[in-house]
Amino acid sequence: MSMPFSFNITDYDKQRAQETLQWLAREIAHHDICYYQKSQPEITDAEYDQLRTLNSRLEKAYPDCVQPDSPSLSVGASPENGFKKVMHRQAMLSLDNIFDAAGFDDFIKKIERYLNQQARLIEWIAEPKIDGVSINLLYKEGRLTQGVTRGNGVEGEDITQNIKTLSEIPHYLGANFPSTLEIRGEIYMRHDEFTAMNQARGQSDEPLFANPRNAASGAMRQLDPTITAQRKLHFFPYGFGFVENRSWKTQEEFLKLCQKWGFIHHNLYHVSHDPQDILTFYEKIKNQRAALPYDIDGVVYKVNDLTLQDRLGFVTRSPRWATAHKFPAEKAHTLIQDIIVQVGRTGVLTPVAILAPINVGGVMVTRATLHNQDEIIRKDIRIGDRVVIQRAGDVIPQIVSVLYDKRPENTQVFILPDQCPICGSTVRQKKGEVARRCTGGLICQAQTIEHLKHFVSRLAFNIEGLGQKNIEFFWHRNIIITPVDIFTLGAKIRTQKIDFKKWEGWGEKSIQNLIANIEKSRVISFDRFIYALGVRQIGASNARLLALHYGTLDNLINAMQIAIDKTSLAYQDLLSIDGIGGSMAEDLIYFFKEPHHQTIIQQLKKEVQITQVEQHHLPDHFFKDKNIVFTGTMTAMSRSEAKAKALLVGAKVTGSVSLNTDYVICGQAAGSKEKKAKELGISILNEQEWLDKLGK
Ligand code: IVH
Repeated sequence: MSMPFSFNITDYDKQRAQETLQWLAREIAHHDICYYQKSQPEITDAEYDQLRTLNSRLEKAYPDCVQPDSPSLSVGASPENGFKKVMHRQAMLSLDNIFDAAGFDDFIKKIERYLNQQARLIEWIAEPKIDGVSINLLYKEGRLTQGVTRGNGVEGEDITQNIKTLSEIPHYLGANFPSTLEIRGEIYMRHDEFTAMNQARGQSDEPLFANPRNAASGAMRQLDPTITAQRKLHFFPYGFGFVENRSWKTQEEFLKLCQKWGFIHHNLYHVSHDPQDILTFYEKIKNQRAALPYDIDGVVYKVNDLTLQDRLGFVTRSPRWATAHKFPAEKAHTLIQDIIVQVGRTGVLTPVAILAPINVGGVMVTRATLHNQDEIIRKDIRIGDRVVIQRAGDVIPQIVSVLYDKRPENTQVFILPDQCPICGSTVRQKKGEVARRCTGGLICQAQTIEHLKHFVSRLAFNIEGLGQKNIEFFWHRNIIITPVDIFTLGAKIRTQKIDFKKWEGWGEKSIQNLIANIEKSRVISFDRFIYALGVRQIGASNARLLALHYGTLDNLINAMQIAIDKTSLAYQDLLSIDGIGGSMAEDLIYFFKEPHHQTIIQQLKKEVQITQVEQHHLPDHFFKDKNIVFTGTMTAMSRSEAKAKALLVGAKVTGSVSLNTDYVICGQAAGSKEKKAKELGISILNEQEWLDKLGK
């Protein structure tokens, strides 16, 4: 992920804070959707936390820049329509991590000191750490009544209906259960089932899941439980939450009881008084790891005796009585055969190394991300180099280092292209940003699906019946690829260029309804139209500012063409819009500069009717609600700038003089319009008078 912004608050002034907060609102919302709704995170949790931290620091320092759509006003995106939020009776905390024998020693010593008891007198239990999705199951009188995700540890989401589709989760417990019992455990997907599912997704052009954990998480978040039921999911219990009259005395006893109640357990645990024994078990599990049919990412050590666990209690977010010994990242040497470029859904170009296939910890690795051009330069990575790669948990393999002493003579330096490899649009790197982006969002196949979803969204074209799901449906069938295709769909169906009868789930009536809704959406206000284009950083409120400022699409397009020259008045004028800063101006200018976008916009102009944006709460002004006509050449500003200024204060600008005209503003060499104004007795203002009155 590119981190275009400084984390040092003193680097910001108000304008930069405002721009950054606008960018963060959009970026965080995007990553929330990737994580919560699609289970396809594009950045690591740590990077996501960095974004959120920056957001809250900036909001604290500049409270009047808080955005209406600030991520601080919402806790992550809930799934479309949403699952019910549920508070956990007992928080679902996490585990401290250790990475080596020294960490293990510390863990044991702390417990010895706390309990004032020698380690050899304490019983220890070690269990594999399953790399899945944590859930809490509530059983009342032995009946499964609720299943809740871990969420933020304090509050999770009620996914009971999905949980009930898992055959390894009993709906009723076997004998001798507490009247109220919370079982905690891990939902996971097996490697073979994960591979088969991804293969099937690949064949139907659906995005692939990066690892079994993301796939399991995605399955649990389905709003339709029948979809969850189709995914092959499993469950291992590892602990308990609230229990009414707990009868068991140790963790081991609990794991055995779970099996009596009807749960399946891997039984790969080991109990011993000897800490050395526990470390030997870690080595054994580490060696078995590649042969296990599911992912584990370490071994969890726990004090077995529950009375001692209760005495030890918790330190802030994790128990004193347990820790996770994580497996080290697995490393291997291989060769970079090639470097290719991938274009992400937000247009970012990512260089990817194609590796000579190599087995790393039981997994065949053929690719590694190189992140960005700066990273390639920093590590001096070249095609033909021998490199050390590592796989840390689920993370996509990384290149740790280049073996420079083994560098052959014919290595090739790699530079990211200036043209997008998918659509040929210009690639831009903004000042202060690491990422290089394709500027052809509306036509670039890698990005169009996201742009289309945005185009039809509520604050944009808001086409009923053409939500995210149907956009995906039409996009995968090559029916709607650019926004223009939405408006030509009806004609293509009428002329039978497209035969919808083959589409599952669509009939005559639903198609007619959809076409009628598309027809209704053809009339759109200018601000919504601008927002629909999906220019980076241009949210609904900025779109409105632009619409009010420029008045018409032609004015906006013209101004953006001129503003390419940063010394132009048009560029100054763009920056003069309160709320539009340099970074946004750059995104706008390059969006309109891209020839592919110009074509799409011209095609769209033929399909839709753009109406003037309604001006709410405009303060009183000399020209408010007045019909004005400009004629002749102005010296202080161009005709289009003058027009935009007039619109901004609430005037209506027309091209010809009539009895309805209130003022004709004459620049130099005004001709027939001035003459007509005189004939009709309409007030005439010269440029200076216009400027004076405008200023007031
Ligand atoms: S015990 C207070 N045992 O790891 C938390 N957790 O990083 C006690 N996990 O949220 C957790 N296998 O989702 C425990 N054998 C195991 C586990 C395990 C996987 C997960 C669990 C937990 C996370 C903590």
